[in-house]
Amino acid sequence: MRKTLVLPALLLSSLSVFSQVSVSHLLTENLPNPISIDNKTPRLSWQLSSPDRSELQTAYEIQVSDRPGGKPSAWNSGKVASEQSVWVTYGGTALQAGKKYFWRVRVWDNKGRESGWSKPASWQMGLLTPADWKAQWIQSAAKEDASQPSPLFRTTFTAKNGIASATAYITAHGLYEAQLNGQRIGDAYFTPGWTSYNKRLQYQAYDVTSLIHPGKNAVGAMLGSGWYRGYICYDWQHNFYGSDLSLLMQIIIRYDNGRIDTIASDGSWKTATGEVRHSEIYDGELIDHRQDQKGWSLPDFDDAAWTSVQPASYPKDNLVATGNEPVKKQETFHTGKLLTTPKGERVIDFGQNLTGWVILKLKGRAGDSIRLSHAEVLDKAGNFYTDNLRRAKAQDVFILKGREEETFEPHFTFHGFRYIRIEGTAGEINPDDYTAVALYSAMPKTGEFECSDALINQLQHNIQWGQQGNFLDIPTDCPQRDERLGWTGDAQVFSRTAAFNRGVDNFFAKWLKDLAADQKPNGAVPFVIPNVTGNGTSAGWADVATIIPWNLYLAYGDRKVLEDQYSSMKAWVEYIRGQAKNDLWNTGFHFGDWLFYRPADDNDGRSAVTDKYFIAQCFYAHSTQLLINAATVLGKKEDADAYSALLRRIKDAFLNEYVTPDGRLVSGTQTAYVLALEFDMLPEATRKKAAARLVQNIQDYNYHLTTGFLGTPYLCHVLSQYNYTTVAYKLLLQDTYPSWLYPVKMGATTIWERWDGIRPDGSFQTPGMNSFNHYSYGAIGDWMYRVVAGIDTYEDGPGYHHSRISPHPGGGLTSAAADLETCYGKISSHWRMTSDSLAIDIDIPANTTSTVYIPAPEGGVITEGGQKLSAVASIHIDGVEKGYLVLGLGSGSYHFLVRADYQEN
Ligand code: BGC
Repeated sequence: MRKTLVLPALLLSSLSVFSQVSVSHLLTENLPNPISIDNKTPRLSWQLSSPDRSELQTAYEIQVSDRPGGKPSAWNSGKVASEQSVWVTYGGTALQAGKKYFWRVRVWDNKGRESGWSKPASWQMGLLTPADWKAQWIQSAAKEDASQPSPLFRTTFTAKNGIASATAYITAHGLYEAQLNGQRIGDAYFTPGWTSYNKRLQYQAYDVTSLIHPGKNAVGAMLGSGWYRGYICYDWQHNFYGSDLSLLMQIIIRYDNGRIDTIASDGSWKTATGEVRHSEIYDGELIDHRQDQKGWSLPDFDDAAWTSVQPASYPKDNLVATGNEPVKKQETFHTGKLLTTPKGERVIDFGQNLTGWVILKLKGRAGDSIRLSHAEVLDKAGNFYTDNLRRAKAQDVFILKGREEETFEPHFTFHGFRYIRIEGTAGEINPDDYTAVALYSAMPKTGEFECSDALINQLQHNIQWGQQGNFLDIPTDCPQRDERLGWTGDAQVFSRTAAFNRGVDNFFAKWLKDLAADQKPNGAVPFVIPNVTGNGTSAGWADVATIIPWNLYLAYGDRKVLEDQYSSMKAWVEYIRGQAKNDLWNTGFHFGDWLFYRPADDNDGRSAVTDKYFIAQCFYAHSTQLLINAATVLGKKEDADAYSALLRRIKDAFLNEYVTPDGRLVSGTQTAYVLALEFDMLPEATRKKAAARLVQNIQDYNYHLTTGFLGTPYLCHVLSQYNYTTVAYKLLLQDTYPSWLYPVKMGATTIWERWDGIRPDGSFQTPGMNSFNHYSYGAIGDWMYRVVAGIDTYEDGPGYHHSRISPHPGGGLTSAAADLETCYGKISSHWRMTSDSLAIDIDIPANTTSTVYIPAPEGGVITEGGQKLSAVASIHIDGVEKGYLVLGLGSGSYHFLVRADYQEN
């Protein structure tokens, strides 16, 4: 009797010990259960959760098996005393190409508890060497029509009983969409993505187990010109990477009995053309349903009229697995509004400027056609406006087969638009038949920012849509005109904001590899990546080589990105060093502070021109500093020392050339003061004065910014750093031109390329350069997250392992809230103000710590969860700093209340 009572009690208590900490969110190389890993020592990450505060991991154990639920045949880490829960490097036996591995992890915590094993996760290795490819490159031997219709390729094969798994590996010269037994393979678009194809060509892997059945099967793919040979760049280059479209594809079927079959593209495949008669990224697509090869990827399709393909001997040593999230369909807009413009054109307004295309349903006679044109804006009179697309036609044309209802949707083009113009169809237009679909890289959504001001919330919406419209496999400048290139300057200025809104580590890590691949032997970084513009390089653009790796390290704690990019970072700094004379970089072409404020009739010199070589010297210093940071993280002491000495000389040369003894700068612009202060170019003694001059300048422009691409990201940060957050708020809340809210007031749904893309009188800026979806000025988002809500990371605990939470109530806002999914879990900082109190709610994820700054007005009382701070065991009071109480906190949810006649900071 006694025994039966005691046993359940013991069991219960041990269960409760186990249940207080758990492990989930297992990722391999930052992806959930990926199937084409080519890092031979992949990195594993997980998250801890616990209802208790101050939860820390003290040890972990990882087991990796080549069978689900099997013994840890590949790796058993044993119990490792470590707090590391992200980016843990695999340390087991050599991993084999194409093989799937299953892993699990358990952890021990600082409260002496063990989590129990996580649910298992898996990864599959990709094809690791050219010899792993049994497939041959294939292409059509037939003479191509002038319109370059999309070729189709197909074959049939027989699968046996007992299929355990099947993986398809596909890539192309051009873009591809593949099918198996009549079904689309996967849901990725614009594959294989855009890379510097001749040096790095990505393939994708797909789990096609459920699409294959024992017996006869058919597989095939359709190709489009895409970036490979379609028109690219404003100078309309054609066949940039090659002139022929080709396919490389193989399917590996594994059977229960261990047998492996490979179906590979080779000379036995057949080819024909079908309904996609023409496609170009800038111009659009032509689909003729009368030429549809219905059922072309079904086993019983009659392909007697198809011709044999021709194998080609293109290289395979440039093939790489895909590590970034593919482009996928995202939001859809079903409720467009039908308008008839003053010109009598029929237009649908989808209410949001987006990147993607329109799917439409239509019924009509064979040979009827319909043409959809795309535009971002209507002009002053309300007419459809496409001048700012320059030479890009951005039109999709669909030709009907007749009979029943038909659905049309492009494949190999995309458009930046909010409006479509419909031409060619007779009779009624039902807007319900037109659905706009946004397409962009499927980066996980990680951040949200919201506050009590509706215009700022719209600005945040516009920033997010600027990112969503331009992160289409590469970071493009714009999605609508004949450009859409990976402009380096734009990407660097926006990268830190981007890393709040979305998980961009994989996205940028891939693009940075192309940057390194396309970097010139002398270290120069091209204007755009992948490079299609030639040999130019520019300060503030090319510095992307140092800025984005460092930003990724900060946001994700990803040290490998620094390791991988280190030689590229160093080569860029060495390039500048080679250009500089006496440590002064004052040669060559530079874009300067692109699109800074310039009034039309500038009689008294209000244009905010910043000396280009002044800017170049600031970025020389900044890139050198970031190289020193990277060298320090990677333990490269010699480099860190050598570049620190160089940095001192760069700053001395700067002071000598551009600064008076009293700290006045050669250019008196906001951008000049911002760069000099942000990059620590000035001696300590003159900094405060310089900040005051910056503020004076802002006041001279009646609290308007005048910065271009390069000054804008740092403007409010510098103000906050020198205790002028009130001025920064005034700039943020300014709603007349030039300001962030001016476009919002003019009805923008994305960030504009120019501060005045539409002038106050409703006229447009010059059509040659007037994109309404250009994210650069959206870089203010970083200040909204890091200062208004106050979520930041310390450099010595990157990836928010040691976060800093420092909310800055102000600007007349009564509340602000930001949430960020970090590698460790969610961080939140929400504040709400009344006349006599400030409530701050904070979440800190397990296995991290935070230094939290709570505004502490004199005579105020601060409580947490209704208790005095000194009574809360999990709170450590570190001191008082500039009117803030500084607290050391562990993980958990905290509810602070500051009571007083609450004054804004
Ligand atoms: C692009 C940019 C880019 C700039 C270079 C423009 O055509 O759209 O945003 O950074 O050229 O100055």
